[in-house]
Amino acid sequence: MSDYYKNKTAVITGAAIGIGYEIAVQLLQLGVNVLMNDIDQEALDKALKSVENFEGDCIGIVGDSANLTLIDALIETAVEKFGAIHFVIANSGITTFGDFLNYAPENFEKVVNVNLKGTFYLAQKAAKQFIKQKIPGRIVLMSSVTGHTFHPDLTAYGMSKAAIIYLAKNLGVELAKYNITVNAISPGATLTDRTIELENGDYQKIWEQTTPSGKVTTPKEIAHTTLFLLSENASNITGQTIVVDGGWTSLSPKPGM
Ligand SMILES: NC(=O)c1ccc[n+]([C@@H]2O[C@H](COP(=O)([O-])OP(=O)(O)OC[C@H]3O[C@@H](n4cnc5c(N)ncnc54)[C@H](O)[C@@H]3O)[C@@H](O)[C@H]2O)c1
Repeated sequence: MSDYYKNKTAVITGAAIGIGYEIAVQLLQLGVNVLMNDIDQEALDKALKSVENFEGDCIGIVGDSANLTLIDALIETAVEKFGAIHFVIANSGITTFGDFLNYAPENFEKVVNVNLKGTFYLAQKAAKQFIKQKIPGRIVLMSSVTGHTFHPDLTAYGMSKAAIIYLAKNLGVELAKYNITVNAISPGATLTDRTIELENGDYQKIWEQTTPSGKVTTPKEIAHTTLFLLSENASNITGQTIVVDGGWTSLSPKPGM
């Protein structure tokens, strides 16, 4: 195995289950030390227990990834415990469904706080730390196909995810002089504990029929894409968003299709 991952540290938000957890698992298997954050203490404890025997060391911090004090604590604790940070994955995001005409302000605030404010300030704190350490850090943001195309009842969520595509672009340029790369990933319909419950439990079947490849995306595929963006091979890729959706966002509705 290459020495590239040796003594490297990653911070991942919303990492107890789903996509964030799978990213943590793949990094830990490579020997990367990981700080997992999640708002759900029980889920975080379970996740930490499940990775005890992995190559890399893993610690957890419970809390809301939209909270600025928590964001400071994530980066500072990772540095204290592991000596430096190299990878930051702003994965945490919440989805609140609702018709635009009746969309509640509380839901709007939640979406904007977690998906935008949390992501923005985690990237800011991470970038400051990378600059201080004088290392070419990597930041991966989690967008969504709903940031590219229409999806019913997800206007506020889609708007927040479109902003993340913009954030990756902007930071890619702004932080290039420090050798920091910032990219985003837009997962398509991805099979996680949460989404399996959607569409009356028919989530996989419905999305397989709707996706050109005939397959839903898996957390493993999103984790592989994340690892590519963190790898040596991606050192000159920045400001980009990679869509992992089996071709779904390339479709245009055509009569009779
Ligand atoms: N699953 C999909 O189909 C899909 C598709 C497109 C984009 N995404 C995006 O990918 C990311 C991960 O999605 P997922 O489906 O794996 O997530 P999820 O909804 O399964 O949640 C993963 C974890 O995040 C935690 N979490 C939620 N809010 C948090 C907060 N404020 N602070 C800290 N932790 C918090 C939850 O407790 C949970 O353990 C999100 O940003 C999501 O918007 C997911």
